Amino acid sequence: MKLNTDKREDLYNKYGKFIEVDTKLDRALVSFQANKKEIFYRWFKYKEGFSKRLVKYFLNKYHPNPGNILDPFAGVGSTLFAARELGWDVTGIEILPVGIYAFISRLASESINIEDFSYEISKFKSEFKLNNNINGKIKHISITEGAFSEETELYIENFLIYCDTISDEKIKQIFKFSAFSILEEISYTRKDGQYLRWDYRANKSWGKTKFNKGRILPFYEAITKKLEQICQDLKYGNGNDLFSIVNENNISLKYPKLLQGSSLELMPQLESDHFDLIMTSPPYCNRYDYTRTYALELIFLGYDDEQVKNLRQEMLSCTVENREKFEILKGIYEKSNKIIDFEKIIKMYKSHEAMFEVNSVLDSLNAKKLLNNLNIPRMVKNYFLEMAFIIFEMYRVLKNNGFVIMVNDNVRYGGQEIPVDLILSDFAVDFGFILEKIWTLPVGKGNSSQQMGSHGRTELRKCVYVWRKSN
Ligand SMILES: C[S@@+](CC[C@H](N)C(=O)[O-])C[C@H]1O[C@@H](n2cnc3c(N)ncnc32)[C@H](O)[C@@H]1O
Repeated sequence: MKLNTDKREDLYNKYGKFIEVDTKLDRALVSFQANKKEIFYRWFKYKEGFSKRLVKYFLNKYHPNPGNILDPFAGVGSTLFAARELGWDVTGIEILPVGIYAFISRLASESINIEDFSYEISKFKSEFKLNNNINGKIKHISITEGAFSEETELYIENFLIYCDTISDEKIKQIFKFSAFSILEEISYTRKDGQYLRWDYRANKSWGKTKFNKGRILPFYEAITKKLEQICQDLKYGNGNDLFSIVNENNISLKYPKLLQGSSLELMPQLESDHFDLIMTSPPYCNRYDYTRTYALELIFLGYDDEQVKNLRQEMLSCTVENREKFEILKGIYEKSNKIIDFEKIIKMYKSHEAMFEVNSVLDSLNAKKLLNNLNIPRMVKNYFLEMAFIIFEMYRVLKNNGFVIMVNDNVRYGGQEIPVDLILSDFAVDFGFILEKIWTLPVGKGNSSQQMGSHGRTELRKCVYVWRKSN
């Protein structure tokens, strides 16, 4: 089938010269792997996070003098914690309770009394007893039912009851956070992007191949290991931790602000011309479902089926289940008397030819049943619609000459490359940004090519876009 690629080619011809490989940007630096030595990231693995080193690398490159920074998709707060160490005043927005909980726990750990914490761990080891007759504290949702053995579940519930006897609120937080951080290890599941993968021992009948995740740690072993790891890390750090940074550089750390909710709703409420820099990584347009991947953590935090479903809908659209938010967005802008902004964004969005080419190509592939899910075109449309709002707001909240540094990957569906980097950068230019650079990670064989329609031959660009506001 011959599909149109003209508009995407035009975009490539317009912006191709801004795409450049940065040899320092390897996969590890961009992904959370580079955090291995950072103590917090050993406690809770948020694999969707980018690395602290990446944040520092770009801040030093584009804005060595600290100012106000925003991350509208803050995750566990990598931008916020890294920038704060360089003296920035930091604000984040995050919707997923998982990132928020990890962020709050990390902050609590900074001011915990380590001797008291150590004492509480010894006390726990000597006093903790399993009571078989308790009223369950964990309420499952359909997709987590059976994720733990009965024994493990009983341990978790007893542990949560035990935590409530700890009087120091910060220590209690770290105890609970420790249990939160081991849920995957002690369960029959493995995080797998679009869903939870089930080990054969869970006796679930689905799945063609038998999946064995390896040793499943008993709760008591896992929790004592985690508590001791956190305690050791807080006591001795690794020379790279907060305490040594503060002491060596003699900086006073600003208190990080994390706004809880959707950026689509909260960004329009932020002050105009306030931030010097935005460093962020939005969800990619890749069907990754945070609410399924983190379902165990969500039920641990007390989320029920309804709340998880609502959360999925409120998040930036990147799954095939997300419904369009046009009316919701209109409501947000009406409520804050910003309907003119709303209309401006929609006007830009509706005139975007390359995006429409992508949409119509995906619709034709869908009509021929060539996509492996019927809702892929809807997801892609939603993604661009919502990102148009985010980019408009980014421009508004930045000071003149302020930067956006955004990590994102391109995607491909039905063999069609979707140049997310070029489309979003073109949105940005339409709103007044200057495209400074699209840094890409070095690729394997061959190079990123402009053959937009080619089937699976080109390597998809993994990028860091740099835009600058110009009034
Ligand atoms: C790629 S991750 C960013 C991770 C972050 N850079 C870190 O290092 O932890 C994207 C984040 O956007 C969050 N998110 C998705 N939709 C959102 C929305 N509407 N408002 C705010 N955050 C959202 C997700 O929960 C996720 O944590």
